[in-house]
Formats: sequence, structure tokens, C-alpha cells
Amino acid sequence: MRPAILITKRLFPETVAFIEEHAQVDYEPTADGLTSAELIARARGKQAIISQFTDSLSREVIAQMQGLGMIAHVGVGYDNIDVPAASAHGILVSNTPGVLDDTTADFAFALLLAAARRVTEADVFVRSGQWKRWSLELMIGWDIHHRTLGILGMGRIGQAMARRAAGFSMRVLYHNRTRLAPSVESELNATWVGKDELLRESDFLSIHAPLNETTRHAIGEAELRRMKPTAILVNTARGPVIDEAALATALEEHWIAAAGLDVFEREPEVHPPLLSCPNAVLAPHIGSASIDTRRKMTMMAAENALAALAGRRPPNLLNPAVWDSWASRPEGAR
Ligand code: 8YV
Repeated sequence: MRPAILITKRLFPETVAFIEEHAQVDYEPTADGLTSAELIARARGKQAIISQFTDSLSREVIAQMQGLGMIAHVGVGYDNIDVPAASAHGILVSNTPGVLDDTTADFAFALLLAAARRVTEADVFVRSGQWKRWSLELMIGWDIHHRTLGILGMGRIGQAMARRAAGFSMRVLYHNRTRLAPSVESELNATWVGKDELLRESDFLSIHAPLNETTRHAIGEAELRRMKPTAILVNTARGPVIDEAALATALEEHWIAAAGLDVFEREPEVHPPLLSCPNAVLAPHIGSASIDTRRKMTMMAAENALAALAGRRPPNLLNPAVWDSWASRPEGAR
């Protein structure tokens, strides 16, 4: 019998067609996706779901998904999924690491450049007819080249960010729970420092840490006050890593110079004072949003789900301990 898969919200048509070649598909084609109650109802009788960042797969929701075999998530971050709860119910979980590293680092750099050189402010200035004369200090900003980039969270995306910094002759400092191997540090020309030194020394601080209980509000009032008044903060990771209210005050009162933000604490809501900070460049969580990368992410999630349902270990399994018992189930019970 063909396995049944729920696709929780809009995907690319070619990805849906690919999944349909191998499975019976229940497809939710809207961009809004499903409420928790709808998710639970529609997951009934399915062997797998293809989930996205906006699906809240909490402990409570997962507890009501008895019989589900797999959550194949489109995205590298999976803070919307309670993986231990899924494991406790014998549900496999996978994500899509690697394919979005360069695209996300490109976007983090775009925000860094835009905030430093005031690109969005300048665009509004021209379009709104405020450009009446040229002057030496018109839209004057900050240099990027030969300055210090601090990276908080030095996983694959942080490392891709460090590689880009080399092209701008930047000094790269990073802070991560575990230090990189000396050979990788020297390839990236990156120096490990403590968090305090990172805050004090960085001209640009780019966040690339996953959201978890240790990183929630890792940048709050105390940290922002330790940064240089000329520093620029960039976040393409997860909104709650920064205390958004403290950041808005920091931008209003110029404790730091500017920020480039792709992620927010309560998306799609943005802490209102941030909306009126001219020194904040804001984007709607589009770090990985290039056509090629988003296609690859959805195909990778599909391949993870289809592998598991065909009895093959999914390549990007997040809870490998579940795999042995899962694979030994009879086909009809997967
Ligand atoms: C995705 C992301 O677009 O991969 C991640 O963790 O935040 C984004 O790149 C999003 O997760 C899609 O579900």
C-alpha cells in the first residue's frame, strides 16, 4: 500500500508532484497552513508529515499524533518541533542542513551591508522626494572593510559568514560552545574569544546560533550595553535569541548604531518601536529564500520522508536513537 503523507502548507508544485509519485498525498496548498487542531486531525492515518517553520509541533500536539511515523521538516532550525517528545512517541524527525548555508550567509551579509551603508534608508529618501541636494555627509555610514566581524554561533552558516568576511578584509572573531579545530580556524582566519570579548570587540555582530534554552535572550540589555556605540547587530538565526524590546531601546538611544534583522520574537509581529527605528533594516524571515535553495530544501525534506517510508534511514535524521526500533517494525506499522 502507498504510504500517506500530509504536506502542511504550500510547497513547490514539482516537490508535491515528486511526493505524489511515491505516496498518497494530503496537500494543504495555502500559505497560512494549518492550526494545531487541523494539524492533529489531518495527521491522523498518515505515515509522515512534511512540516514548515510555522507549524507548532509542541509536546501537546505530538502527543495527539499517535501512529505518525515521521516529521520531515523543511528547514535547518527545528525549535518549532519538540524532538524529545517525538522520540518518546517513536516518531522520526529530520531537517534540511547544509543546502541553505551559503544562501543564508549571503543574506546576513546583505543585511550587514544594508545597515552599515544605510541602503534602505537611502532608498526611502530618494523615492519619497527628500533628495534635494547632495552633501558630503548625506546618508553617511560605516565602513565594512578592515573592521571586525563577530560571529555568535559558529556552525555551518557562521562559517559561511566568516568566508564572506575574508573578501572584505575583515578580522573575524567568534564565540561558540565548542571551539573549531585549529585547522578550520586557520582556514577561516577566525579567532575564538569569550562572549564578553566578542561583544566588546565586534564592529558587526552576526547571530548564527540555534534557538534553545541556553541561547534564548543571549543578547539582552546587559549585552547590548557592552557593545560599541558604532556596532551593528545582524540576526538571521531566530528572533528570541535577542531581547527585542531591549534592542529597540538600544537603537533608539544609540547604545549601538544599527541592526539588520530577518527574524523576530513573535513573527510575523514585530515589536512596534522597532518599526520606527530608521537604523533598523527589517526583513520577513527570508534568509534562505532563493529559488534554488528553497527548492533544494523541500526536495530534501521529501527525500527524508520517502526514505524512511521505504525502510531506508533518512539522511538527515535528528533522533537517530529512534531509528532501530522504527526500522524493525513491520512495513504496515511504519
Ligand atoms: C526556512 C529557516 O525558510 O531553515 C531554517 O531554519 O529558518 C528558514 O530557512 C524555514 O524554516 C522554512 O520552514
